[in-house]
Amino acid sequence: MKKIAVLTSGGDAPGMNAAVRAVVRKGIYEGLEVAAVYNGYQGLIEGKIVPMELGSVGDIIHRGGTMLRSARCAAFETEAGRVKALEQLKKHEIDGVIVIGGDGSFRGAYELTKLGIPCVGVPATIDNDINGTKFTIGFDTALNTVIDAIDKIRDTATSHERTFIVEVMGRDAGDLALWAGIAGGAETILIPEEKSDVDDIVERLESGTGRGKKHSIIIVAEGIMSGNELATMLKDKANIDTHVSVLGHIQRGGSPSARDRVIASQFGARAVEAIKENHSGVAIGMQNHKVIDYDLQSVFENSEQLDLSMYELSKQLSI
Ligand code: F6P
Repeated sequence: MKKIAVLTSGGDAPGMNAAVRAVVRKGIYEGLEVAAVYNGYQGLIEGKIVPMELGSVGDIIHRGGTMLRSARCAAFETEAGRVKALEQLKKHEIDGVIVIGGDGSFRGAYELTKLGIPCVGVPATIDNDINGTKFTIGFDTALNTVIDAIDKIRDTATSHERTFIVEVMGRDAGDLALWAGIAGGAETILIPEEKSDVDDIVERLESGTGRGKKHSIIIVAEGIMSGNELATMLKDKANIDTHVSVLGHIQRGGSPSARDRVIASQFGARAVEAIKENHSGVAIGMQNHKVIDYDLQSVFENSEQLDLSMYELSKQLSI
């Protein structure tokens, strides 16, 4: 292993830059040449590959987004696309690739490994939905962004005695909604992993009103339904008026939290060690507060359940 490349792919996540920095600096520290691929797998197909130096990653640790840019690349899902990528890697004499992204990006890394290019996946997505790791880079920052929004919405909800629905991202996963709902003191949290019954939501809202509550906050994960759909259901079912706030891509931006910067640094550095030790076809992750590497394939084969005891806790605390 003489020369490695790093790329970021899929939806960006705060902390990706810190991970890129860690890969470049640790790679050079370990005596490797490091190149960067711009624009994710699309850039790999097009050969957007440039050498990196220590200074190339200066002044980025605190920045959101990704300096390498990102893309969702349909062409890489085809064999023809992957063959083109392989040609570029050969042309640039790259022996291994570190892929920073979510599970779609990891699939790409897995396919490249099968084609003979050792790859290591570094989990970065605000959704926190990668099997085998408790945390992904970007989740903590996004969570804090959501909580900041909920706190602000709570001020106006209290002043006007209103019920608010806050729709949060997460794709098919409820982590962001659940953690934000607990930390933000939401009355009701709707996540894809748990069935929600509109009668139950109405009952909870009415029981709150019955004991003198003047406002309510409902958090809905985009993976179960939209905030507007829920608002319509509550209006039709119980004539409850709500205000809907869709947080959208604001959740993906902003300066990464200290925690995201630290885990990104740890994950990026471990990814370099793993690839240097020829321990490839692995993903880096966090279990029991320790950085681990585990089989990339297991990311797609296992499905890790959200900690439903937290969901139960949220219900108990918001009676
Ligand atoms: O995977 C990250 C994520 O932000 C999801 O939470 C969301 O569903 C999706 O990406 C949005 O993707 P795009 O930015 O491509 O619309």
